Order: sequence, then structure tokens, then C-alpha cells
Amino acid sequence: MTDTNREILRTTFGQDAELYDQCRPGYPPPLFTDLATLAGLGPHARVLEIGCGTGQATLPLAQLGCTVVALDLSHDMAAIARRNLAQFPNVTVVASAFEDWQPSDETFDAVLSATAFHWLDPDVRMIKAADLLRPGGALGIVSTHHVAGGTNAFFADAQRCYERFDPTTPPGMQLTADDESPEETAEFERSARFGPVTFRRYEWQHTCAANEYLNLLMTYSGHRAMAPQARSNLFACITHLIDNVYNGEITKQYRTRLAIAHTTP
Ligand SMILES: C[S@@+](CC[C@H](N)C(=O)[O-])C[C@H]1O[C@@H](n2cnc3c(N)ncnc32)[C@H](O)[C@@H]1O
Repeated sequence: MTDTNREILRTTFGQDAELYDQCRPGYPPPLFTDLATLAGLGPHARVLEIGCGTGQATLPLAQLGCTVVALDLSHDMAAIARRNLAQFPNVTVVASAFEDWQPSDETFDAVLSATAFHWLDPDVRMIKAADLLRPGGALGIVSTHHVAGGTNAFFADAQRCYERFDPTTPPGMQLTADDESPEETAEFERSARFGPVTFRRYEWQHTCAANEYLNLLMTYSGHRAMAPQARSNLFACITHLIDNVYNGEITKQYRTRLAIAHTTP
């Protein structure tokens, strides 16, 4: 992704923050149990969350009793996160790009970014996160992957809709069960600020009807950035498949991955 594309696409989530809040699933609860163990999080631990959205990962952090500063680039996403976390006085939501955020001289026990780290400037994200951590503090990167499983045949058929209507789709794309962890390990290693990386994986499924699936697609930056006519044709093609070939519902297989490492002294 070029810097320009990143800067444009990362602003799309806040264009319909309420839709994002309604449609994006959260994360499997065992992720937060593991995070608590691996990062030593519990009541009063200080956590910085980057790219909190409307609070998908912030809420479970708050429920662990952590004191959370949650940042999001979008004012609208941040406003909904504040609403969703209103009952937690230990959570502060700040509307700011991580790259521009000027912290006080506090440090954090952990920095977490859930499905947002890839939107941050790669020249800044690792080093600034490391600088904000106390010695031995943990950086956790949560990523979400659509992998083989669920209604596989639907996604193979839908690829033909994308090839017809979305010029950015590479031909012949297929879902795989592969894991992509080496790139994350390499980024931790390149920074020279962290020790060994630990990974955890969580497989889960989400079943939805056509209208629910299209709403979910409208929360993805790539779909939001499509030309409206092309998107409308694509969505008609997908709806036709779900309703007429797949009996009105499909199942998507997700893999959530946690990569976590501690700062070295
Ligand atoms: C895919 S969403 C993830 C939201 C939420 N964490 C979740 O798990 O659903 C990415 C979020 O990162 C935010 N974001 C993108 N670039 C950012 C940046 N440079 N600094 C802070 N937040 C950013 C976007 O506004 C968006 O809310």
C-alpha cells in the first residue's frame, strides 16, 4: 500500500461510524484471557489502545479493570467509543492520529492495536509504541484474517463477481488456511526494540444473510472506496448468489491472530 492510499483509506471507517458499530464483530473472549496472561494485564494496568474504532477491543480491556487511553483517528468513531464505554471511568477516548498524538510523560504497561496497526505509518508505529512502553511492557498486535472454511464455495463464486465489477481485484484470488506471521515477526525484529514474538490464533465463524453481509462489506475500506455504480453491481451479484444459490445465508471463517512481544531493556 502506498502512503497516499493508506492515508485515504484509513479515513473511510469514520464515514459511517454507526454502521461500523452495528456490523463489525468483536473478538473471541479467549484473546483477552491470553492477553491478560501474556502482557500481565489486570486491574489498574495502564493500556494504550491505538485505532480503537467504536470500542470492539476497548470494552473487554475495560472489563479486565485496565486503565485505558484509547486513540482513534476519526472523531465519529471516538464519539461512539465514548458512548459505548461511558460506564467505565477508567477509559479515556482521544480523537487523534497515533502519529500526531503528544502523550504526557506517562508510560504504559501495554500497547494494543486491534485490526488497526497496518493503518499506522510503518516508519513510526514500532518505535513510538516502544517509546511509550515501560521497560518490559508489551506491544500486542491483533489482526483479523478471512481464511478458508465456512461457505467456501460461495467465496469462490463471489470472486467472479469481484473480477467482473472491481478492477482492483487480482484474478484467481482464493482463500487459504495459511498463516502469515513471519512478516509481523520481521517488523518486531527490524525495530530492535522487542524480544521474541509470541503468537496466538483464534478460529471462529460468522453466519449472515445477504443484507447483513452487504452491511459488513460497507465497513471495509476497499468496498467504501469503490465507485458507487461498480459497488452497486458487485452487491447485486453477491446478493443474487446468497439468495439464489446459497439459500439465503453464508458463513465466513475468521482467524484472529495476536502477536505480542515485550520491550527489551
Ligand atoms: C479496521 S478499524 C479497527 C477498529 C477496532 N479496533 C476494531 O477492532 O474493530 C481501524 C481503526 O483505526 C483507526 N485509525 C486508522 N489510522 C489511525 C491512526 N493513524 N491513528 C489512530 N487511529 C487510526 C480508524 O479510524 C479505524 O477506527
